[in-house]
Amino acid sequence: MRTIDWRHDRIVAIDQTRLPHELVLMEIDTVEALVDAIKRLVVRGAPALGVAGTLGVALAARLSAGDPSMVAAAAAAVRGARPTAVNLAWGVDRALRPLDQGIDAVLAEALAVLEEDIACSRALSERGARWLMQHVTSPVALQTHCNAGALACVEWGTALGVVRALHERGALGHVFAAETRPLLQGARLTAWELAQMGVPHTLVVDSAAASVLARGLARAVVVGADRVTANGDVINKVGTFPLALAAAYAEVPMVVAAPESTIDLSTPTGNDVDIEVRGTDEITRWGDVKVAPDGTDTLNYAFDVTPAALVTAIVTDRRVILPAMGGRPDDQPAADR
Ligand code: MRU
Repeated sequence: MRTIDWRHDRIVAIDQTRLPHELVLMEIDTVEALVDAIKRLVVRGAPALGVAGTLGVALAARLSAGDPSMVAAAAAAVRGARPTAVNLAWGVDRALRPLDQGIDAVLAEALAVLEEDIACSRALSERGARWLMQHVTSPVALQTHCNAGALACVEWGTALGVVRALHERGALGHVFAAETRPLLQGARLTAWELAQMGVPHTLVVDSAAASVLARGLARAVVVGADRVTANGDVINKVGTFPLALAAAYAEVPMVVAAPESTIDLSTPTGNDVDIEVRGTDEITRWGDVKVAPDGTDTLNYAFDVTPAALVTAIVTDRRVILPAMGGRPDDQPAADR
């Protein structure tokens, strides 16, 4: 099943807020519903957000019969739904490009982005598996964070795509998944996906991941990314930066698996990225239960910046970049990327 797709002139997406309890598809037939779904993390994960962006423009074009100002307003709303993953704005811009050729051309572009996402996930997963098999003793034991699986893409996944490729080669040992406070993408989504794949895995609280690495239980970290800046800084789910610090201490590779569409050469460093800050309730409540005194101040960063110096490898659908060794995403001419 695809995480996000286009059927009968509307967007269909797995409602990720309802996993792991139930696997339910949501039909999205207005731009407002799409913006709400993105904000509530019904659809989430950078590559899936890229596809949501393109399909959102296709939906807006169809609903407005291609009216340029209405499509522009809808595109701005979709682009603004979440600020950090560059794929969302990238996807919106890809679909807007052929708008002057008509609504069918916009939909064709959106569907092309969707198919490209599947191909990119597979390509980077194979490359990531090969890289890990060359640099880490097999069977490879990994620590991951958040969810960078099929649910974060159209199919397959990035970090969990690498896991899948290793598993298929018989080279995977074990995966440790961090629960990923406060919205538990690791517990709810990654553990669910790993179980579906038949991958041996163990769930740990976020603060235990450093001990997993220090004790040698995992021999590399593999995560996805929401944005990679021109200098090789990696923006990903909050908790990735501490994991990179722990990986450096344990002297194990910190590997980022992401499609080229996640690389943002127009942003120089991670300090220039708008990091989403989410609502107080996500950390002062546990479901319906209050877990902090009324009025407690919070700073609910959804993402953090891992400096390039702590990133061993960024594996994309086209290449491997080695930021800790001085490699930069912008050090290759665009034509060769
Ligand atoms: O807030 P989320 O769940 O959208 O955050 C997702 C992540 O941080 C993922 O690691 C990232 O998007 C990469 S997904 C291939």
